[in-house]
Amino acid sequence: MTVIHDRRPLSRRLVLSRGAALVGAASSGLLLPEIVRAQGNKVKVGFMLPYTGTYAQLGVAIENGVRMAIAEKGGKLGGREIEWVKLDDESNPAKGVENASKLVQADKVDVLIGTVHSGVQMGIQKVARESGVLNIIPNAGVLAATRALCAPNVFRTSFTNSQPTMALGKPMMDKGLKKAVWITWKYAAGDEAFEGFKEGYTKAGGTIVKELGVAFPNVEFQALLTEIASLKPDAVACFFAGGGAAKFMKDYAAAGLKDKIPLYGSGFLTEGTLEAAGDAAEGVMSTLHYADSLDTPRNKAFRTAYARDFKMQPDVYAVQGYDAGQLLLLGADAVKGDLANKAALYKAMGSASIDSPRGKWTMSKSHNPIQDIYLRKVENKDNKVLGVAAKQLADSGAGCKMA
Ligand code: PHB
Repeated sequence: MTVIHDRRPLSRRLVLSRGAALVGAASSGLLLPEIVRAQGNKVKVGFMLPYTGTYAQLGVAIENGVRMAIAEKGGKLGGREIEWVKLDDESNPAKGVENASKLVQADKVDVLIGTVHSGVQMGIQKVARESGVLNIIPNAGVLAATRALCAPNVFRTSFTNSQPTMALGKPMMDKGLKKAVWITWKYAAGDEAFEGFKEGYTKAGGTIVKELGVAFPNVEFQALLTEIASLKPDAVACFFAGGGAAKFMKDYAAAGLKDKIPLYGSGFLTEGTLEAAGDAAEGVMSTLHYADSLDTPRNKAFRTAYARDFKMQPDVYAVQGYDAGQLLLLGADAVKGDLANKAALYKAMGSASIDSPRGKWTMSKSHNPIQDIYLRKVENKDNKVLGVAAKQLADSGAGCKMA
């Protein structure tokens, strides 16, 4: 675990001159209250994200997105400067509670932005519910976070794990793909993505002939690919993301399956992975709440600015981070920076309507986006949008009772 106190907004010179001023003030008996107040008055924003491992690039994209949204509006929250704190959660669920507690108790963050991995989010969820700290989830789709374990202080700007895959069934059946094998990493994200897939695909008339899984974050797919070849389904559907997703698509192609059995996925499969997967990703179909090629001024402006600022192409994770930044700005503005005014803060965030690069979305009662899900196809290293697979899809929020 690494904690980096990041004071980027201050130049080194400014830090040194402030330090010198404080020493000078102390020795001359002056208190410089305005400096002391300015420091204490900062909003402390903690990133608890994966910066190492198979989800490392996801964490980076999310942080970039958050910073970009806030920088675009002057770099402050409700008029207050920001102190950023970063913690690498390594996508390790075993350290979820410990890491979140550290940010809340030792670093005393006002806002915890995290995380990517559903299992780690369960740790954050516990700490958020017990401490009351404001938590914005910029990715992890674990259902419970906005169902049975929902909380007034927890908001998600991404999806529930079953949302993207719910929309896969119809486009597959439209192509006459009646028998499918499902393959995934075996943990909450994959299992809950399967719930969505199963519901949508079987309702559309499809049959799931086999469920296959590997432990997260293993990438030894060979035995399972051999099994798929012998099962000869009409199609394969899957959940993988990050580095492991690129490896899966490459192995799928190398096993000779790519041209025989069409590959479908929850769209994370092809997010941020297209360079690494190369030709192996071409033609892969998926459903997700974002697509690179969405032809709107909002998306185009976002993509241009992100590429300029970070020298890389944005993906769905960057968009979810950007929207976490937008949501936080909106809340902080509503209470003029007084984040202790929780009733007003949560009211503003809970009734948010976000103008996102993905398209407009609104916050559900259980604090999860109600959003369009797109059908996409990889063409020339781009997630080309083919249409809307589900319009303004909401998660059920089943069992959510806000305290
Ligand atoms: C999750 O663990 O919830 C998760 C991780 C990566 C994704 C999507 C969901 O791309």
